[in-house]
Amino acid sequence: MSDFDPFRNRLRKMARHFDKWARRQQLEAYRIYDADLDEFPVTVDRYADRLYVAVYERGERDLTETYRTHLTEVLDIPAERVHFKVRQRQSGNRQYEKLAASQEEFAVAEYGRQFLVNLSDYLDTGLFLDHRATRRMVGDQSRHKRVLNLFAYTCSFGVYAATAGAGRVDNLDLSNTYLDWGRRNFERNGIDSRDHGFIRADALQWLAQPVTERYDIIVLDPPTFSNSKMMADVLDTQRDHVRLIEGSLSRLAAGGRLYFSTNYRKFKLADELAGLAREITAQTLPPDFRKKNLHRCWVFDVD
Ligand SMILES: C[S@@+](CC[C@H](N)C(=O)[O-])C[C@H]1O[C@@H](n2cnc3c(N)ncnc32)[C@H](O)[C@@H]1O
Repeated sequence: MSDFDPFRNRLRKMARHFDKWARRQQLEAYRIYDADLDEFPVTVDRYADRLYVAVYERGERDLTETYRTHLTEVLDIPAERVHFKVRQRQSGNRQYEKLAASQEEFAVAEYGRQFLVNLSDYLDTGLFLDHRATRRMVGDQSRHKRVLNLFAYTCSFGVYAATAGAGRVDNLDLSNTYLDWGRRNFERNGIDSRDHGFIRADALQWLAQPVTERYDIIVLDPPTFSNSKMMADVLDTQRDHVRLIEGSLSRLAAGGRLYFSTNYRKFKLADELAGLAREITAQTLPPDFRKKNLHRCWVFDVD
């Protein structure tokens, strides 16, 4: 018996279960192994016929090639289709910039939509799988609505809203690279991106401006921390969430709803906001994400 046998057995079992589950749901991107065994702290996501693996190393040894071998053998996937997550840099300001130029973009299906992903050139893939259920929830409520998607990244929430028949979707992000990716996602789903907004701005600054437009649904899903040189100040979601949430609430039309989400594990919602919010984390965490607290999510409804 090799040291990796427990990992191999668990991986095989989880893959069998979630492959079947995903086929029934017509999902092409999902998690099959979620650091289920403490001795093997990795996550393994399927993106169609490829794997995307994040290794959370504790020691000095680089286990990437060892994991590649086991994944290739157990899941019967060619080694070149196993991608490893690019390691996070310590300095935050390069976090959202492009790392290489191989442009290996391909599409995965999710609940009838298509999303362009890239497993090798950026720090993230283009689609955050833990928000799949939240995206569907937003889509289900978006028909004929005006939707604002803050910290839009590749505009996946916006794609759900637009394909569900939203009247107008405004996507806002600091990065033109991601807004362009978002436009491609819209087009890929048969939506004319010229009918919607792609706003390059610092969300904090933008929200501080006078209100000129109101929305029925706002999605506010900021990164825990961001200090891009394009911003006037660093963004710290714990410190800034009251400003972000109040700025968003002031842009809601009567009867509107704000979705607020964070991945910050130690996040604490300010007391003055807690009475206005309803936590929906349990409904938004999909079954293939078994680690608790990966994200937390609240809705704010205004009269
Ligand atoms: C955690 S992702 C948001 C995920 C997105 N809501 C989704 O579901 O795919 C972070 C995004 O925030 C953007 N960003 C970071 N700081 C920003 C700021 N101050 N204003 C606007 N966007 C910002 C980054 O460019 C990146 O696209």
